[in-house]
Amino acid sequence: MSSWGNKVKISIFGESHGPAIGVVLDGIEPGIRLDMDELLLNMGRRAPGKDKAATPRKEADMPNILSGVLDGVTTGAPICCVIENTNTRSGDYGNILSKPRPGHADYTGFMRYNGFNDIRGGGHFSGRLTAPLVFAGSVCRQALKLQGFKIASHIYSVNTVQDKPFDPISIDDSLIERLNQKSFPLIDEAVENEMRSVIESARLSQDSVGGIIECCATGVKAGLGSPMFEGAENVISSVMFGVPAVKGLEFGAGFDITKMHGSQSNDPFKYENGKVVTTSNNNGGIIGGITTGMPIILRAAIKPTASISQQQSTVDLQTKENTTLVVKGRHDPCIVSRASVVIESALALALINL
Ligand SMILES: Cc1cc2nc3c(=O)[nH]c(=O)nc-3n(C[C@H](O)[C@H](O)[C@H](O)COP(=O)(O)O)c2cc1C
Repeated sequence: MSSWGNKVKISIFGESHGPAIGVVLDGIEPGIRLDMDELLLNMGRRAPGKDKAATPRKEADMPNILSGVLDGVTTGAPICCVIENTNTRSGDYGNILSKPRPGHADYTGFMRYNGFNDIRGGGHFSGRLTAPLVFAGSVCRQALKLQGFKIASHIYSVNTVQDKPFDPISIDDSLIERLNQKSFPLIDEAVENEMRSVIESARLSQDSVGGIIECCATGVKAGLGSPMFEGAENVISSVMFGVPAVKGLEFGAGFDITKMHGSQSNDPFKYENGKVVTTSNNNGGIIGGITTGMPIILRAAIKPTASISQQQSTVDLQTKENTTLVVKGRHDPCIVSRASVVIESALALALINL
C-alpha cells in the first residue's frame, strides 16, 4: 500500500494524469515553523521541466497545504498537501493500454489490479508520485534539523561517469548546504559536463541511462533502531524501495566490504572530545541495525528510465500476440538528478520514524 510509518505516517494518493496527487502526513510535532522557501527549493529540485537532463513535462509542483499548518507553524494535526496535475497529455498513452512498456509497471500493474489500474502517465506508479514524498520528507527534514540532523546527497555516478564519494568520517556542513541548493548535485563539479553529455547522447539516440545516488545523514544520534526487523537498515530500505526506479541499496562500503579482510572492514573505536567515534565508517553508521553516531552513508541504484522511444518488443495483452511498441510521451533520459532529493526525503522519513 502507499501508506507507511509508525510514529510519523504518510499516505500518498493520486495518479500521474488524475486531477491531483498528494499526501497526508500525520505525527509531526506541533510548533515547528516551516521554512517554505526551503520546502519549495526541494520541490523544485524534483520538479519536471527545470533541467535539460530531465523530462520536458512542465509542472509547477506548488504544494497546497489544506490542514495541519496554521500561520506557517505545524499544529500537530495531520498535514494534508495537494499538488495539482496541470500538464497532462494522456493521448500519449493510448498505444500502451494493451501493450505494456518493457521495464515499466504496466504489465505488473495489469496483473495485480486485473487491468483496472490507471495506466495514463504510469498512473500511481509514476515518478510524479514522488512529489508528495518530497513534500512530506521536507517537513520531516525540518523537524529533524531542529535536533541536529542534516541530510544531503549527490550524483555518485551516471552510467560509468563517477563523482567523488563522501568522506564517510566527516562531512562538512558547508558541503551539505551547497549540495542542498543544487538540482544536479555533485561533490566534484568538474565531472558535470561529462555526465551531462552521457545523458544527452542517450537522449539523442532515444535511449536512457541510470546511475547511483549517494546520500548521507550527519548529526545522527547513536542508538536508533531496533533489531531484528526495525533496524535502521530495515526501516531506511523499506522507504527507499518505495521510490520508483530504485533497484539496489548499499550502506557504507556496501558490496565492496566483501573484498576486504575483517582487519580492514572493522571500524575501530576511539574517544574524541569525550564522544565515541570510529576511525573508519565501512558500516555506514549502522551496526546491528542500530546507529553508531557516525554519518549514515547509503547508495541507491537508479535504473535507466524505462520509457524510451526506440522500438521495443512487447506483447499485446488483448490479442495475445507478440508485437512491438514505440513509447510516446515526455520522459527523463536520466532520472538520477531529479531523484536525488527524493532519496534525501525518503531518508528523512525513515530517520524521523527511527
Ligand atoms: C523522479 C522520478 C521520475 C521518473 N520519471 C520517469 C519517466 O519519465 N519515465 C519512466 O518510464 N519512468 C520514470 N520513473 C521511474 C518509473 O516510475 C519506474 O521505473 C516504474 O514505476 C517501475 O518501477 P521500478 O523501476 O521501481 O521497478 C521516474 C522515477 C522517479 C523517481
